[in-house]
Amino acid sequence: MKILVTGANRGIGLGFVRHYLQQGDEVWACYRTNSGALPELACDRLHLLRWDVGTDQGPEGELPDQLDMLINNAGIYGPDKRGQSLQQISSAAMQEVFNVDCIGPLRVVQRLHRHMPAGSLIANIGSKMGSVADNRSGGTYAYRAAKAALVIVSRSMAVDLAADGIHVLTLHPGWVSTDMTRHGGLIDVATSVAGMTQVLARCRDYPSGSFVAFDGSLVPF
Ligand SMILES: NC(=O)c1ccc[n+]([C@@H]2O[C@H](COP(=O)([O-])OP(=O)(O)OC[C@H]3O[C@@H](n4cnc5c(N)ncnc54)[C@H](OP(=O)(O)O)[C@@H]3O)[C@@H](O)[C@H]2O)c1
Repeated sequence: MKILVTGANRGIGLGFVRHYLQQGDEVWACYRTNSGALPELACDRLHLLRWDVGTDQGPEGELPDQLDMLINNAGIYGPDKRGQSLQQISSAAMQEVFNVDCIGPLRVVQRLHRHMPAGSLIANIGSKMGSVADNRSGGTYAYRAAKAALVIVSRSMAVDLAADGIHVLTLHPGWVSTDMTRHGGLIDVATSVAGMTQVLARCRDYPSGSFVAFDGSLVPF
């Protein structure tokens, strides 16, 4: 398979790259910052592409002619919990997180969907924090709002790309130990990626537009 992953230089994105290279797939790993971890994985099935999804500029480097799977993983949390409280959240922080976490995946899909044949798959990495139904603890305005908006954007993609045979899922990776969670979290990257890749392998078991957690359960939204 030919697979493109955004935000691939660390955390969950790097985990996806490792997983699919080990499976023998060909991977386009997109990064904003070159942290050195990707070059260490160098092989003839790994292509590195600089792509800041927070701008309209598009990727620097060659895109594949055809793509079987796109994983929109790049994301930011924004200010810490206190900085995203009702008292402290700023319009600038709301806009910055929305730009990367919601508009980012949209930009990437606008650029790539014509390279995706019938039977291909788009996975947008969301978060349970973006589930309205799951929000019992409040706060975290910027991240929650951007990830909630990503769910509806994914759903529109699912409808609009159905005629082309492109399947779309939103995924929740679990609470994962990465830089984003300051290495807190309940599970490690390998466990999260193992779960999500199993979901992706049987993606057609879920209607296009579904929101699915790493353990295969549906996330209400
Ligand atoms: N960790 C969790 O518990 C958790 C839970 C739910 C959802 N998620 C979601 O899972 C995804 C990956 O999170 P993570 O935990 O692996 O976070 P992470 O360790 O902070 O990594 C985030 C990745 O996104 C990239 N990125 C950020 N802004 C970008 C931009 N404008 N353009 C391109 N790449 C950009 C980062 O690149 P740089 O190195 O250049 O910053 C980095 O590669 C995110 O969408 C996150 O919201 C994570």
